[in-house]
Amino acid sequence: MSKDKIALVAGASGISGGNLAALLIEKGWTTYGLSRSPKNDIKGLIPVAADLLDVVSLTAALKDIQPTHVFFTTWMRNDTEAENIRVNSALVRNLLEVLSPRRSVRHVGLVTGLKHYLGPFDAYAKAGALPLTPVSEEHPRLPLDNFYYNQEDEVYAAAARDGFTWSIHRPHTIVGKAVGNAMNMGSTLAVYASICKQEGLPFVWPGSAAQWNGISDVTDARILAEQIIWAATTPEAQNEAFNVANGDVFRWSALWGEIAAYFGVEPVGFDGAIHPLDERLKTYDKAWEKIAKEHGLVHTDMAKVASAWHTDLDLGRPIEVMTDMSKSRKLGFTAYKHTRDSFFELFDQLRKDRIIP
Ligand SMILES: NC(=O)c1ccc[n+]([C@@H]2O[C@H](COP(=O)([O-])OP(=O)(O)OC[C@H]3O[C@@H](n4cnc5c(N)ncnc54)[C@H](OP(=O)(O)O)[C@@H]3O)[C@@H](O)[C@H]2O)c1
Repeated sequence: MSKDKIALVAGASGISGGNLAALLIEKGWTTYGLSRSPKNDIKGLIPVAADLLDVVSLTAALKDIQPTHVFFTTWMRNDTEAENIRVNSALVRNLLEVLSPRRSVRHVGLVTGLKHYLGPFDAYAKAGALPLTPVSEEHPRLPLDNFYYNQEDEVYAAAARDGFTWSIHRPHTIVGKAVGNAMNMGSTLAVYASICKQEGLPFVWPGSAAQWNGISDVTDARILAEQIIWAATTPEAQNEAFNVANGDVFRWSALWGEIAAYFGVEPVGFDGAIHPLDERLKTYDKAWEKIAKEHGLVHTDMAKVASAWHTDLDLGRPIEVMTDMSKSRKLGFTAYKHTRDSFFELFDQLRKDRIIP
């Protein structure tokens, strides 16, 4: 076991954490995966069951672990940003405080996101507070409450106290495999398209004109994982915040038809109105249960696989959003993914794993 590469991934059952844990293991790291209900679906991952909000259980669960690297890919969704701040800063603070006396941690990576530039959900890119695009790490914090800022500040304070280096990673919409997590646009669109196919419905664009017509990018969960590991192991990249996206741009007006073709459904583009998916998909709960039983799928409960509320927020934004990748590129991070491959490789995987028909 390498004593230099002992990773603790907080949130290893999520979309960022699961893909990060898998890549760390592939690269030879000893990898612990912490969450409240760890899954056993990543070969080689050492599960740690703990609630980051419960310091007593957290201390007990971590008593024999001396990580050199800690990666935060956790968040909890709350009703207000004030509550998001209280809860999500505690997730970071508690873990770093429990580990502090051991002095084993050399680097901490924190995953936040483009809401750093766009504002939190309850002020999300609303008219009147439109951010500059492409979003750049040079942009100052917005004058709005945002749990990402508080999580960053927790990392900075602990780094000053304990002497570790840090990196912050700001993905756009993440595309990748995860089941039962809070935000997964790829799986949501796969479920929606599968229902359209089975029920003979058109595949209707749910979002805004700006998102349909504008330029977009997304972040493959494996590109995010590559950047986190790159920053943790590249001295010039440490104590910096980085945007992270695939490296190409696309328009939904083109990709929608390609996704429709993959599933064999009829695409319908922006027709002058937003058609939120959340309300529509809920009416197909029973239809999904039937599809799942007929095709022998793993999850008959659609809510386990689809998270339409988040897809609606992303695709309904009143502006186009794309990401400036120059900062990490200049320092040597060159990983790239064609966005079409991100979606189609995910759909292939979901079919293989019997998540969609
Ligand atoms: N998903 C996206 O499209 C997206 C896009 C941009 C930015 N982001 C940001 O990326 C960050 C990571 O999000 P994600 O989407 O990767 O998360 P996720 O898929 O929802 O996973 C969250 C992870 O945290 C764990 N967790 C939650 N509460 C916990 C607690 N109290 N104690 C221990 N573990 C806990 C969950 O497992 P258990 O439930 O088993 O505890 C899960 O493993 C967030 O800041 C998010 O805003 C996400």
